[in-house]
Amino acid sequence: MIQIVEDKIFILNGHKITYALFVNKLGFLQNLYFGEKVDNNFLYSLQEEWDKKTPAADDLNKDMYFDTMPSECAFYGRGDYNEPSIIVHRNDGSEMSRFRYAGYEVKKCIPALKGMPCVRGGGESLFVTLKDDFSGIKIVLHYLVFDDFDIVARGCEIINTGNDCVTLRRAFSFCLQFEDIDYSLLCLSGGWARERAPETNKLGHGITKIQSTRGISSHQFNPFIALVKDDCGEETGKCIGFELLYSGSFSLCAEVNGNDKLRVYGGINEMNFTWMLHPAESFETPQILISYSNNGIGYLSRQYANFLREKIINPQYVYKERPIVINNWEATYFNFDEKKICEIIEAASKLNIDTFVLDDGWFGKRNLDNAALGDWVVNETKLKGGLNTIIQKCNECGMKFGLWFEPEMVSEDSDLYRAHPEFAVGKRDIEPARSRTQLVLDFTKQEVVDYVFNAVSEILKTYQISYVKWDMNRSLSEFYSTGLDYSRQGEFSHRYVLGVYSLAERLMSAFPDIFFEGCAGGGGRFDAGMLYYFPQIWTSDNTDAIDRCKIQWGTSYAYPISAMSCHVSVCPNHQTNRTTPFSTRGAIASLGATGYELDATKLTDEEKNAVIVQIDNYKRIRDLIVHGDLYRIRNPFSGSEFCEIVVSKDKKSTYGVYLALEDSSETQVCLSGLDQKYVYRDIKTGVDYSGKLLMEQGFDIPILKKYETYVFELKVL
Ligand code: GLA
Repeated sequence: MIQIVEDKIFILNGHKITYALFVNKLGFLQNLYFGEKVDNNFLYSLQEEWDKKTPAADDLNKDMYFDTMPSECAFYGRGDYNEPSIIVHRNDGSEMSRFRYAGYEVKKCIPALKGMPCVRGGGESLFVTLKDDFSGIKIVLHYLVFDDFDIVARGCEIINTGNDCVTLRRAFSFCLQFEDIDYSLLCLSGGWARERAPETNKLGHGITKIQSTRGISSHQFNPFIALVKDDCGEETGKCIGFELLYSGSFSLCAEVNGNDKLRVYGGINEMNFTWMLHPAESFETPQILISYSNNGIGYLSRQYANFLREKIINPQYVYKERPIVINNWEATYFNFDEKKICEIIEAASKLNIDTFVLDDGWFGKRNLDNAALGDWVVNETKLKGGLNTIIQKCNECGMKFGLWFEPEMVSEDSDLYRAHPEFAVGKRDIEPARSRTQLVLDFTKQEVVDYVFNAVSEILKTYQISYVKWDMNRSLSEFYSTGLDYSRQGEFSHRYVLGVYSLAERLMSAFPDIFFEGCAGGGGRFDAGMLYYFPQIWTSDNTDAIDRCKIQWGTSYAYPISAMSCHVSVCPNHQTNRTTPFSTRGAIASLGATGYELDATKLTDEEKNAVIVQIDNYKRIRDLIVHGDLYRIRNPFSGSEFCEIVVSKDKKSTYGVYLALEDSSETQVCLSGLDQKYVYRDIKTGVDYSGKLLMEQGFDIPILKKYETYVFELKVL
């Protein structure tokens, strides 16, 4: 709910939070409060305190005051020495700005961003307009709040109302100042095959910057950070989260300044960023989801999971039963023909797998990773009878068919590149930087996006396809387009992302019945922006259950488990060479959108039976996976156990997986999120437990050998 007091205090109340801002005596918009829900009187007293500290309106020597003012939009060149939110470069070279409050509006709808993912439907929005005292720049900050969430979504639109062209040198989505600096910063860091490991470091004076400069949100850092108190655990303690709805280069910063204030800000990465605004043009920033929890990081994660499911992910698919996929990548890599694929399909269908996804290597002259990207025509030499043979086999076996694409890429050895070298990113007289022997297509060019749309659509129209895996296997390196003027090269990175979003939007609208899965060399673009288009994303190329339990644990800090594609693969594992029990691989893969990444024809009878049982069990719990709440019970990063449970919204059913990372003796794990009053029956043993006992004394886990799992289901009957 949004309340406006005396046209100058703006109070946004969510489920258990309050976010308040106000216009101070000098006419500047400053933050008043963000945290646990408080009553208005408390906010009024805070405002009085600030009024006392604010210099008189006519005292022009007091500009240095801005250095400590909790600005909602920090401006440059007037004595605020923290990093600015927005920098406007004018044609005389000057950049100083002073953004002053100029009005507000409350709307019952939420802003739809042009060509970018954004919060969907419902809610109430506050639009606050600021005007620059020194240029024609107007900024409309927008704030969205929902009665049933502890999340405030923020973003802004920057409009050039002047007569001259200006260039934005920075356009961050938000800025928020805290008086308390005693926090640690949690980020999700990693690399290929080890994505999103939570890391927490105490904030000292200076700037801590979490960023991607790679043109994608990246394996290295995720666009999510949280401020956490020292005593913040899974279910107790205070933390504040920031999750950006963006899939390109980003920065999220926490700055503790010499005045002992903490500012958090960020958005599109300012490195190499400029954006030209002609008169009457405007620029929209991505949205940031800010959340507060006084009940630990677990509660914060559930807020994000619920919010993404309700407000970001495509409603057509978000709560739908996910296909149980078998993918041939680790089974065959590039080495397959139609006979091999049909054998896998037939074997998989007997195991009750419902969708076959044909991965890389089906098109052009693609027999290795050095050719044919961009040539989206079926390789009928490799696949006799083309895709029809395979789709017909799927039909005969009662399975659906899915297909891999890498729409944003081109190989130099491809018909597309030979015909259109100018489609690739880069400068023609400079040798391109290669990665996986491929180049990136220049998605800042409309003709390139159109070409890819037509080529991919042709395949999707021609064949009976129910699932698409959209991959993206390298970071961008040359942030340069031959299609942009000298003065617009700084727009390249963001324009590329807009090109990706526009292709996703067009494909999704043209083929609404196709389920799209995202991927970027595993989890290199796992972010809320991509989830707007793709209800699930391939979490990591690392399918080793032991590494995966960590990757999935870290990913769940900011994303719902239903968004994570998790497959069972063979052992020794192709990425780590580790051998784990088949049941362990199934159990870890069941904590997400489950599937298989193996050659079903090569499974032993015992493994085949195990798959049948795993799928049977998964079908029983898959409703919990898409609707339920995740509770992280044992942290694999800090001990020799992993345990997560998923609890239904009505708290009447629970599914849990415990994994021993070392040989373990009998132990108990205290569960969270249950109802103390309920009696839960262990479906396997028939034993009844009270919710109170399960939460306070724990649930019994038997003796396990290293890498064994114990899976349990508890139900109120
Ligand atoms: C990436 C993906 C894999 C697979 C290969 C194919 O690495 O993450 O799942 O699709 O590309 O080249």
